[in-house]
Amino acid sequence: MRTEITIIRPDDCHLHLRDGEMLAAVLPASARIYARAIVMPNLVPPVTTVKQAAEYSRRIIDARPESSHFEPLMTCYLTDSTNPDDLKAAYAVQAFHAVKLFPAGATTNSDSGVTDIANVYPVLEAMQEIGMPLSVHGEVVDPDVDVFDREAVFIDRVLEPVRRDFPELKIVFEHLTSKTAVDYVFEQDEYTVATITPHHLVLTRNDLFKGGMNPYMYCLPVAKTAKDRDAVRRAAVSGNERFFLGTDSAPHPARMKEKAGAAAGIFNAPTSIGYVTQIFEQLSALDKLEGFTSIYGARFYALPPNGSTITLKKRETPVEMNWEIKAGHDVVKIFKPDVSLFWDLVD
Ligand code: DOR
Ligand code: ZN
Repeated sequence: MRTEITIIRPDDCHLHLRDGEMLAAVLPASARIYARAIVMPNLVPPVTTVKQAAEYSRRIIDARPESSHFEPLMTCYLTDSTNPDDLKAAYAVQAFHAVKLFPAGATTNSDSGVTDIANVYPVLEAMQEIGMPLSVHGEVVDPDVDVFDREAVFIDRVLEPVRRDFPELKIVFEHLTSKTAVDYVFEQDEYTVATITPHHLVLTRNDLFKGGMNPYMYCLPVAKTAKDRDAVRRAAVSGNERFFLGTDSAPHPARMKEKAGAAAGIFNAPTSIGYVTQIFEQLSALDKLEGFTSIYGARFYALPPNGSTITLKKRETPVEMNWEIKAGHDVVKIFKPDVSLFWDLVD
């Protein structure tokens, strides 16, 4: 049985770093593992301009631990009024690596998102033309749609029409949670890829309610059934390069999680690579780990593979750590599912 593995240093193709004290608190965990990350733009106010992105990128770089070379790859928050020409200019200088589509009201800080996909058709046209990736939060916001069906309904109502109208638009279907979504992506060509999170590899919706309602297992899209999770796992270990790692690590202060109307989002950065490795081992797929974490995402975003490696080791006893960090006066709890963690980064 393999107890150690060395892989090309991974990239996190979907990360929420926040800003200010929270950024300073959470960044070291990602920087320790990942060389680069596709940084989500859902700040308040959202990152919609090159200037905002450049300033945010600078704040991230300034918050890096000493000697870290972690590289933030910025994204643009798509709104009903995003200008296609501005985007073209921004992509030409790599000020943005992708545009993020949040349907308005779908999730945390998505109020400025897109209210009707038809409003951004000129933007999608321009993106298709220049090969700029569209990163998609794939859930409808229709209150009549069951919360567990929102991803599947999004495929029918939004993704399919966009796919048909822009066949060569690069689309990242972010954080897959359902068998329906996995099957959909498998059926598509190279223009449709997907990210998979550590928590959606581990959790089912039962975890939300195990031992009482648990907001630390709550994120959007919400975890689904065991059958869905198993489909997501199969996609991750398939070796198909259209599925790759995006942690969706999304920190919230404990006071925002432990209340009625708990915030959606799981802060998994510190344990992310450990849990992913553990699941790959469990599925006898450690040989597929490096592609999923370190090669396919970079290839999709037209980046060279990272020049360094990381090593993970399987411990005989579960990893012990302080399962929370401080962010200013706040506490942020680290993803700790009901499954002991045995794989850990070797420094
Ligand atoms: O659970 C989530 N949290 N899903 C998202 O799409 C956004 C994220 C956040 O920013 O907290
Ligand atoms: Zn996200």
